[in-house]
Amino acid sequence: MEHRQHEQIAKWERRWLALSGLMSLTFVMLIAYNLATEGTHIAQRTAKATPEQILAQDVFLEPGVRQLAPGKIQLTSVGQAFVFQPANVRVPAGAEIEFFLTARDVLHGYQIEKTNINVELIPGEISRLLYTFDEPGVYRITCNQYCGIGHHNMIGSITVVPASQWNAEQAGEPVVAMAEDGTVDGAAVYAANCQSCHQANGMGLTGAFPPVAGHSAELVASQGRDYLVNLLLYGLQGEIVVNGQSYNGVMPAWNALSDEDLAAVTNYLLTEWDASALPSDFMPYEAAEFTAARGQELTAADVYEARTP
Ligand code: CUA
Repeated sequence: MEHRQHEQIAKWERRWLALSGLMSLTFVMLIAYNLATEGTHIAQRTAKATPEQILAQDVFLEPGVRQLAPGKIQLTSVGQAFVFQPANVRVPAGAEIEFFLTARDVLHGYQIEKTNINVELIPGEISRLLYTFDEPGVYRITCNQYCGIGHHNMIGSITVVPASQWNAEQAGEPVVAMAEDGTVDGAAVYAANCQSCHQANGMGLTGAFPPVAGHSAELVASQGRDYLVNLLLYGLQGEIVVNGQSYNGVMPAWNALSDEDLAAVTNYLLTEWDASALPSDFMPYEAAEFTAARGQELTAADVYEARTP
């Protein structure tokens, strides 16, 4: 009797052992499958030192994007409470990007949407990984490690542009935007310069880039005609609220564009999405208004100051 009971127990033990062995094997195979086919990366910590030692290294002296060779990009970024340095970068599609990431103060996260990149930024360590963006677009970066009171504002973006456009930008060539009749095509200026943040439909990205559609005409009405001129020439820095959603990014100054381009893109914003909200006596912006507004030497903070909430 006792012997039979023992046999019975041993039989169940063997079954459970086989089952757990099979489960372990399945999990290992799943990981192997992901590494092989899904491009899963295991970030490699290549160095350990003090944050000061790490940040004094060549690679981190000027964080940002550097072209090492055609199709080979180095992207360095430093996380600190509560920003990524730099927060917004542009890279070409199809290039192999080597990330070098670290943190200045405390532990931060670095998660890039629409990719499987999700690494920790650790003070005193460099996280290195390789990635290639095939699709142009805006990829938001978020810090997903609670790092303090401003954690939720710690966002950034990687704008992936077609390689030809990226090369032209690097060479400082203006992106020419002429309509067939020889006038400047505001839609093309928008597509080349504004769309990567404010999106093709003008709706922006919630929490990162405010919408321009349904907002531009309202700005002219509430802030005055000159506001858009100064906004484009000098940029804007400070927290704003649009449609109940707050934004705390930086709109760069677009003074490198010609006055004709700036007038054309402003008119495009107002007529493409907000035509019905414009007053009946609205006169299109003219290049001369931008010409006249140059030389005020405003800063992005000045433009923000002048804005009535
Ligand atoms: Cu940095 Cu959360």
